[in-house]
Formats: sequence, C-alpha cells, structure tokens
Amino acid sequence: MKKNLIIAAVSITILIASTVLAAVEINSDANGINKITIFADTNRETISPEIYGHFAEHLGRCVYEGFWVGPNSAIPNTRGIRNDVVDALKKLDVPVIRWPGGCFADEYHWKDGVGPVEQRPSMINTHWGMVTETNRFGTHEFMDLCEMLGCQAYISGNVGSGTPEEMQDWVEYMTFAGKSQMADLRRANGREKPWKIKYFAVGNENWGCGGNMTPEYYADVFKRYATYVRNYPGNNVTKIACGPSSADYHWLEVVLKKAAGQMDAISLHHYVFGSSDWNNKGRATVFDETGWFTVLKKTLELDDILKKASILMDKYDKQGRIGLYVDEWGTWWDAEKGENPGFLYQQNTLRDAVVAGCFLNIFNQHCDRVRMANIAQINNVLQAMVLTKGEKMIVTPTYHVFEMFKVHQGARFLPCDINCTPYQNGSESLPAISASASKDKSGKIHISICNLNPESPAELACAFEGFQAKKVTGRILTAEVMNAHNTFEKPDVVRPVEFKGMKTEDSKILATIPPKSVVVLEIE
Ligand code: AHR
Repeated sequence: MKKNLIIAAVSITILIASTVLAAVEINSDANGINKITIFADTNRETISPEIYGHFAEHLGRCVYEGFWVGPNSAIPNTRGIRNDVVDALKKLDVPVIRWPGGCFADEYHWKDGVGPVEQRPSMINTHWGMVTETNRFGTHEFMDLCEMLGCQAYISGNVGSGTPEEMQDWVEYMTFAGKSQMADLRRANGREKPWKIKYFAVGNENWGCGGNMTPEYYADVFKRYATYVRNYPGNNVTKIACGPSSADYHWLEVVLKKAAGQMDAISLHHYVFGSSDWNNKGRATVFDETGWFTVLKKTLELDDILKKASILMDKYDKQGRIGLYVDEWGTWWDAEKGENPGFLYQQNTLRDAVVAGCFLNIFNQHCDRVRMANIAQINNVLQAMVLTKGEKMIVTPTYHVFEMFKVHQGARFLPCDINCTPYQNGSESLPAISASASKDKSGKIHISICNLNPESPAELACAFEGFQAKKVTGRILTAEVMNAHNTFEKPDVVRPVEFKGMKTEDSKILATIPPKSVVVLEIE
C-alpha cells in the first residue's frame, strides 16, 4: 500500500523566483509585528472551487456507515444515504467528491456495483482490512449522493486490474444518452438520463498499489486506457493521469514527457505525519510541541514541492492547459487503539485544523496550476470532516476550517507578501504565519490566517494595494490546548466563534492572532 517515498533527484533548474505567488519572509520588524501586504488590484486567477474537494473510498467506515446505512436502517436516511451526514456536508458547499478510491479503485469492477442489490456479488477489499465488500454502494448510489450534495463526481478508473474495455463501458454506461448496450443497462437499472461526469482518473498510485509500475510503463498504459475514455455527446471528461507521491519529480517528469498531450490533469499525493517513519507516524491526540512542529514543517514543504512541480509542468505544458490535482492530502496518524488498523480511523484535533488551514492557503497560492485538491477522506478515515459512531455523528476541527474557508471558492486570488516572525522549535524555525487572500464577486476581501505558534500571539498589520479597508469582521477557530478535539460526548469543544481581536486603522487592518489558531477575516 505505502509508500513510494523516493525523493528523486530534481532534474530541473529551480527558478522559483519567477513563479512565486506569495512571498513569505521570516523577518518581522523590530517590534515583532507581522506584516501582510495584499495586492488587491491584480487580475489573477479564480480559485477553483474544486480545491476544496473531497475523497470517499471504500475503506473502513467511510462509505459504509459514513454515508451508506441502507434504506431499511433506523438511522434517518434518503434512499439509504444518511441524512445527518449529508446535512452537515451541505454546509461546506462540497464542490467535488472523488470515488471509489484510492487503492480500492484499482481492484474495483464497477459492474459488480450496479443492478438489483441482492444480485450484486461481493468481493474482498484486499487493501483495507480484507473485509467483505458487498457492493451495496455503487455507481447509482454515488451519483445519488453527488446529486444530493450538488457536487461534481470524480471517478477513479481501474487500470491496475481492469481492462480498457471495462473502463470504456463504465464511461458509456454513465454518460451516453443514445441507444447502446451500456446505456440500455443503465436504463434497466433505473436511470433513464445519463449523468454528467466531469472528472475521470486513469488509475491511482500506479507506482504502488495501482500496479507497481515504472513511470515509463505507466505513461504508455495511461495513453492506451485514456484513448477509450470517450466523450459521448453532451459530456466532456477531464482525463487525469496518475502523478507522483510528494517530491517524486522523476515520476512526474517521465509521465509528462511521454503523455502530456493525452491528459488534462495529473495528480499528486501528499500525506503528513509526525515522523519520517511510516510505521511510527505518531498518535492523533497524544503529542508534544515537537509533534506539533514536525507536522507543520512537513505541511509547509508542499509549497516547495508545488513550485518544483509547476516548473516541470511549465516545461511540458507551456500553455498551462494541464491541471495539477492534489487529489489526496492530509494527516495520517497511527491507528486508534481498539480500531481495525486497516480502517485508518483517526481522531482530529486543533493540530489537524491548523494543518488544513496551511494546506488550503498553499493551494490558494498555487491556484494557477492547482485546480483541484481532495482531502483524504470525507468520513471516518484519515483527516475526516465527519466522524460517526452508529447513529451518532460529530464534525471535526478540520470540518470547521473547510466551512470557514469556503468563501475562497470561486473567488479571485489576491497575491500577498508576508513578512513574519519565526516560530522557533529547538534549532529549527518556521514562519509563524500562513495566509492567503481572495476577492469575491461582491468585492469583499477574505484573508485566511493561521498562527502556527502554539504559545505566542502574532501581532499583525495588514496593508492593501488598491483597496481601502473600511470594515472588518471575522471568525476564529482555536482552543485551550493543542490536542483539543470533539468527541461524541463533547461535540463542540473546537468550533469557530466570532473574532474580535482586530480593527481598521488608516485603511489597514491591525489584529492580534491568538496562538494555535485559524482566523478568517472579511473586509469591506
Ligand atoms: O487514502 C488512503 C490511501 O492512501 C489511498 O487508498 C491511496 O491512494 C493512498 O496510498
């Protein structure tokens, strides 16, 4: 399953300065004031709403229990999909969900998941706990969920153990309006009209669980399979190639070099945890300040990875046509005691929330190339939005960050210079502040700010080029302790509240950002 962590030699000249989207300097003024200058008069890209995307895999209790309880369940549901989870997720304006995997995608045979439920064969989920997969939740149920949430569907196709014919049939089944064997099968299964499928991936992690391929081999396989991912009338598929894990620039470069012409996007996965050892990642709720610092350091490294990936993409895609989709990201902690280790269930603390805020700020800053990102995963798995226990449901600190940051979805990106104090841990330091800004259609500016320092508040002066700040309001997510989290007994320990620690002065914003917090300001 895990993990091709080859840090390939960077075969490119790093001309980062030319592509910098937000400059961060650790160097506040003599009074320790952090300064952000926002360039409000620039005409930059729109932040793709899909950057705030999600991922649901047949893994642990993500799909089963997390979404699917079945129509006969005592848990209130609509056609088998639980209402409480859908209601909570609606508040996030979910733009897209990636499904059915992950590693599961490359052993999933979609025909097993359509038709009368009692006739659907079961299979073994070999990646995730060797449990029986009943196929009760399949294409129709997933598309029903997307329609309930009003979001796009992102389907991951099976390359590792599937055939080009199977892939072509799936796309035809879902998207062809006319008469054909697959479209007729869809109708026989109760869906007259085709669905729109905007996003389709040709494999997942094919360097690992998706077939252990070399990049040279995968690039050829990608071209072969992608040929059969057809655009039937009225549907236009964005074809996504499998990209690297984190800093594997070799994989990225080979696949781009051989197959850029056939792809519309390429993926990248980046997971963070508290050490460099996949067998000892650290616990979700039990950690010290070094555990806090280490994961934030790994999070901020993504900025550099994206800069280098963007340079490679500029080399093979000079027009900027191909999107970089960070379609798996987030924290990954050791399995909770008493839980099936193959189910990847983990608690979610204020630390996860600050990590999420930093990741989302980085994606906003790279929105020229990063046009989708999907946190792993939406319910009950890894850095989840929602945790369930039977009929109970709670939302996590990370959920609140997604809710607070949704104002950036579809807004115009505003570059900013950040000049900030260091956050010191032993001999190492990080910038204490992570931030990004955007202007929405009504002209309001939103700045999302994380104070990474768990001990010290950050004094902040925020200036604007091309904008007069007259009024500021805001919300804050923080807590007394670094590992604060919500439980089924105490579901509201970490939740956003009104933020009052700021004012406008001479068309600037002056604020005191509390330690270990995530703040979103709205400025008129
Ligand atoms: O998100 C969990 C797993 O992490 C996915 O199945 C896989 O793609 C990655 O290794």
